Amino acid sequence: MKKFPTSSEFAAQANTNPEKYAQLYQQSIESDESNEAFWAKRAELVDWIKKPTKIKNINYDLDNFKIKWFEDGELNVSVNCLDRHLVDNPYKPAIIWEGDHPSLHKIISFKELHSEVCRLGNAMRKMGVGKGDRVVLYLPMVPEAVVSMLACARIGAVHTVVFGGFSAESLASRIVDSQAKLVITADEGVRGGRYSPLKTNVDRALDVDGTECIEKVIVVHRTGNSVPMSGRRDVWYHTVIDNSNEDCPPETMNAEDPLFLLYTSGSTGKPKGVVHTTGGYLTYALSTFRDVFDVKEDDVFWCTADVGWITGHSYVTYAPLANGTTTIVFEGVPQYPTWARIGQIIDKHDVSILYTAPTAIRAMMKEGDAYVRESNRESLRLLGTVGEPINPEAWDWYHNVVGEGRCPIVDTWWQTETGGILMAPLPNSVDMKPGAAMNPLYGIKPVIVDSDGVELEDAAAGNLIIKDGWPGQMRTIYGDHKRFLETYYTTYPGSYFTGDGAMRDEDGHLWITGRVDDVLNVSGHRIGTAEIESALVSHPAAAETAIVGMPHELKGQGICAYIILRNGEEDSERLRGELNRHVRAEIGPIANLDAIYIVDALPKTRSGKIMRRILRKLAAGEFDGLGDTSTLAEASVVDDLIKTVKSA
Ligand code: PRX
Repeated sequence: MKKFPTSSEFAAQANTNPEKYAQLYQQSIESDESNEAFWAKRAELVDWIKKPTKIKNINYDLDNFKIKWFEDGELNVSVNCLDRHLVDNPYKPAIIWEGDHPSLHKIISFKELHSEVCRLGNAMRKMGVGKGDRVVLYLPMVPEAVVSMLACARIGAVHTVVFGGFSAESLASRIVDSQAKLVITADEGVRGGRYSPLKTNVDRALDVDGTECIEKVIVVHRTGNSVPMSGRRDVWYHTVIDNSNEDCPPETMNAEDPLFLLYTSGSTGKPKGVVHTTGGYLTYALSTFRDVFDVKEDDVFWCTADVGWITGHSYVTYAPLANGTTTIVFEGVPQYPTWARIGQIIDKHDVSILYTAPTAIRAMMKEGDAYVRESNRESLRLLGTVGEPINPEAWDWYHNVVGEGRCPIVDTWWQTETGGILMAPLPNSVDMKPGAAMNPLYGIKPVIVDSDGVELEDAAAGNLIIKDGWPGQMRTIYGDHKRFLETYYTTYPGSYFTGDGAMRDEDGHLWITGRVDDVLNVSGHRIGTAEIESALVSHPAAAETAIVGMPHELKGQGICAYIILRNGEEDSERLRGELNRHVRAEIGPIANLDAIYIVDALPKTRSGKIMRRILRKLAAGEFDGLGDTSTLAEASVVDDLIKTVKSA
């Protein structure tokens, strides 16, 4: 197994080393007392209105379940991200915004950002939005997205960001579930030179039953193309900002008050609203940011994730800004105008830390080294990946070509539910192994178990659970606490079940082996098979369907659909195209069907359960070793399926 030591150049300036990591990690998990003491110390990174005296209060007993961190503490997150930097660093860039087109960029200081957040906070207050009210943000990657998040935090409103690539239908279902009062959107989004009709999607979403809760829509003027504005409901962002003053007293929030909801896919049903709270989330996002990214005062940090995902919440917005670090907000895509764009942005803004997804790395790698070599990337010091396993070839390329061999790579494993990174090779703490998340962060106790919950020591593979808790952990599913307990705390009582598999190698290092449930990871985006299936069968031609993941060179995992048509429907290219378009319209373009097999029957057990294991193997082109098929109701189904897949 290849191992990569940290370059001497990096090691010379690193915040930690193997001994320090081992010592602090051990101390952070040794006993209940030392664990609490560790988190109490970490909470000192935050400016509290009232310092917490109680640190941790966790009980995973289902009868008396609670998760509370810093429960008597009071704070305001926007003050931590803005006001506290105004004393020493008012004119430091808080946001460097790089537009879709390379001719557009904007630098916003902490002082300017503070002023705009306060104005928007006041405008929202005037509209009757206050503590605890939900606000849906459906925005492109523009500075106003970060402003809106922080303005909600300032007045105690709970934001729920909906990725701008999601459809009107997906937006509507999130509005209905969260019962929000306000939507903040833009006339249109722009990515890779293509325009997306955000405001039109909002209008369509607000025609759906159950969305009457929305009283106002604030619209950011991004492209200037004309969009319908409806009378008293819709207002322009710039008008409300211009008419507001910048004296906006921050709401005092309890540490356990919710900061945001973020919808994410599960193995069953509709996406669930993951609830994160104020004090614990901020402490965790901020402290992991410092540990994982070896952060220094003058770093320019670029996380390429959209704020529609948890990575964008924690590592575009909250952690960098709370730490006073300049954060890049990029509106575009790596291939526009050419594949040289990522390198150009690094040079243009002196980016020192780049944090991106393996999908983007694979796509860039495929285009050849020449594009990247158009830039010199001298400012780069550290690289990171997130969202999906990285294959060794992509890791090597990222390390050698993008990072010129001198930048360590932090492969960070975490989830929407965890609020921040739980595992990564902290820079200069260990020799890196391509594809491994390696080690737990301080205070985190990962355990590998078998399906009966027996802990597997030494080198072993099984399901990944986390014992105990950490401040950034989710508190509930919005409006469905029962589903929360069932999903995460009943499979392995007393521990958090991640839904991932993991492997521990001979050196004790951890490797994530992927989801063990029916959740797919397409280009680092999480999507439930059940969601796609229900979108598909809402098309009149589809009678029954099974969705499974399949290996995909660029996306990591692609979506494979087995579809039984309704009587009288004929298979054709046109129909397949239509089914795909239907799913993309229902969910969003990320739900693209990469393979469609029209079949007569699905492999089911006698009790009617679809044997997805077989479908996954066939989708991967594995026709032998299909495992035990003796429980199938009709064995011939598999032969027919093999024929269909082979002839496609
Ligand atoms: O399967 C794991 C995978 O992404 C899932 C979480 O997805 P989401 O909630 O959308 O959050 C993504 C960004 C934090 C996990 O259950 N995953 C995430 N990071 C890695 C990963 N798989 C392997 N290696 C990673 N570094």
